[in-house]
This record gives sequence, structure tokens and C-alpha cells, in this order.
Amino acid sequence: MTDTLHDPVLHAEVLRAAVEAGSRRAVDATLGDGGHAAALVGVGIDVLGIDRDPEAIRRATARLGGGVEVIHGPFDDDQVLRRVEAFHPDFALFDLGLSSRQLDDPSLGFSFRPGVRLDMRMHPTGPDAADYLRMASVEELSETFRSFGDEPRAYRLAKEIHRRRETGSMSTSDDLVNAIRAVLGPSSGPSDFARLFQALRIRVNDELGRLTRALPAYRDRLSPGGLLAVISYHSGEDRIVKHAFREWARTCVCPPAFPMCVCRGQALGKVVTRKPIVPGDRELASNPRARSARLRLFRIAP
Ligand SMILES: C[S@@+](CC[C@H](N)C(=O)[O-])C[C@H]1O[C@@H](n2cnc3c(N)ncnc32)[C@H](O)[C@@H]1O
Repeated sequence: MTDTLHDPVLHAEVLRAAVEAGSRRAVDATLGDGGHAAALVGVGIDVLGIDRDPEAIRRATARLGGGVEVIHGPFDDDQVLRRVEAFHPDFALFDLGLSSRQLDDPSLGFSFRPGVRLDMRMHPTGPDAADYLRMASVEELSETFRSFGDEPRAYRLAKEIHRRRETGSMSTSDDLVNAIRAVLGPSSGPSDFARLFQALRIRVNDELGRLTRALPAYRDRLSPGGLLAVISYHSGEDRIVKHAFREWARTCVCPPAFPMCVCRGQALGKVVTRKPIVPGDRELASNPRARSARLRLFRIAP
């Protein structure tokens, strides 16, 4: 397991956005190793950090010292949201997905490297990925690999997993890689494994459901003029963010069939990034993890 501290993804862009917005109180909803939080603290912004992974909380606390308030839990948890509300933030950051440390730690079971038990839980309670592969129906498995992994042969892969779990084991990275190879053929490789392992991880942690619930909850807890920043790494995540921001920026929310506006609606704010901000060549050269990152910003109405 590597213990290197990489620069956080789109670090300069996030920091610039917070500073230009005049932020004084930021929530980092995905604290991770505390890289973004450290940068925000470094420019004098008070930070409340949240992570559902207890090890991330431990490491970020060690890195940031007592200067940052931290909460362990999922960012959409009711109790967490109450603490966020009481903090009165004017900036909120989501840097979704996994940290490099989580991806590299074999005990967490995210990796498709050989001999890893399929755990994949960001928080060590509830059913893990191996339980899911053992218990889900063919239809559920197929939906997971199609919706979150864009896999055209999702149904065949689901049937293959089902067949293999009846006759043998389906609990390690090797078991899943072998099932993928059997369906996608011998030319399948790391990019397929990464995509399909990611699909399983998204399902096990209900990542898109939690993001969908969290976005309006944080929007409503930001002060007027505040800024919501989301870095996503998966097309499904980015779609949710893009559509939510676009919807909130509409001035009229009457059903399309209405001949005239009766809602006299006010936009909840403004989309700052018509197109997502993506990492530049320099960042990509030094941090391959940034490859699929997309940053979107929404400013709450003043
Ligand atoms: C990409 S890392 C964040 C890295 C961080 N920005 C940094 O600078 O080190 C994502 C973090 O979000 C956490 N996370 C993902 N989904 C979460 C959720 N629903 N609630 C709380 N934390 C979550 C993960 O445990 C992980 O530590």
C-alpha cells in the first residue's frame, strides 16, 4: 500500500473558486487524506470535514491537527446534515469516489489485483461486494454492470457470475476477473476490469443515490451567494450534477404544457461552469488519477 500524499485533484481550481467567492467557512464533504481541506485552511478558511471512511478521518485529523472540525459518516446522513447546517457554510466541496489510498489498500477490496477479497465498502458495515455478487438476482447484476459500467454484455456477465457462484466461489478479485474474461474474451484487460469493478463499487456504496440526495441538501444549507463545487469521476455522477445544477438555475418551474408562467419562480442560483473544468496537461502528467475528473460549480442566489 502506498502512503504517498498526492496533490488533490484540481487543487488549484478548487482553491481559486473558494477564494474568489470570498469563502470563510467551507464544508469538505469528502475529506479523504485532507488535501483540499489543508489548502483551504492554508488560506484562512475554516473547514468542517466529513468522510464515511474511519481511516480517512484518522489520517486527515493527523494531517490537519485540531484546526479542523471532522465528522465521521456519510455526507447525506441526517445527523451529519444537522452539523453542516449549524456550521453555516458558504462553500461546499464534493470530491467524489475513492482516494488513492483506498484504491491501493488490498484490505478494502477495491482493486482488481490478484488475491483481493471483494469488500469495496467505504464504511465497514453492511453487505460487501462479495455478498452482493452472491445474493443479487441476474437482473440486478445486469442492471449494475449496464447502468454504472456501460457494459453492453451486462446480461451475459450477470448470467456468468450467477453460474459461477452456483458451482464455485465468487468472492475474490480473481473470481470476478475470470468471469469478466469469460464473457468479454481474452482481449479484455485492465480498463474493462477497472470499469466493471467501479460499477460494482458504485452499487455497493449506493454512491449515485447518496449524491442525488446530498446535492439539494447542501445547496439549501449554503449561505446566500455561497458556492457548491463537485468533482466527479464517473459519467453517471457528472450527469446527476449537471442536471441538478441546470434544473436549479431555471427561473420558471411550471410544467411545459402550461401556456404561460404561473409560478413566478426565481432561480435558486447560477451555473458557474457551463462546461466542466478539467485538469490541465501538467496535472494529468503528474497524477493519472485526475484523468476522468470534472469540476462543476454552482453559485447560490445572493
Ligand atoms: C477522492 S477522495 C477525496 C480526497 C480529498 N479531496 C483529498 O484532498 O485528499 C473521496 C473521499 O470521499 C469519501 N466518500 C465517498 N463517498 C462518501 C459519502 N457518501 N459520504 C462521506 N464520504 C464519502 C471517501 O471515503 C474518500 O475518502
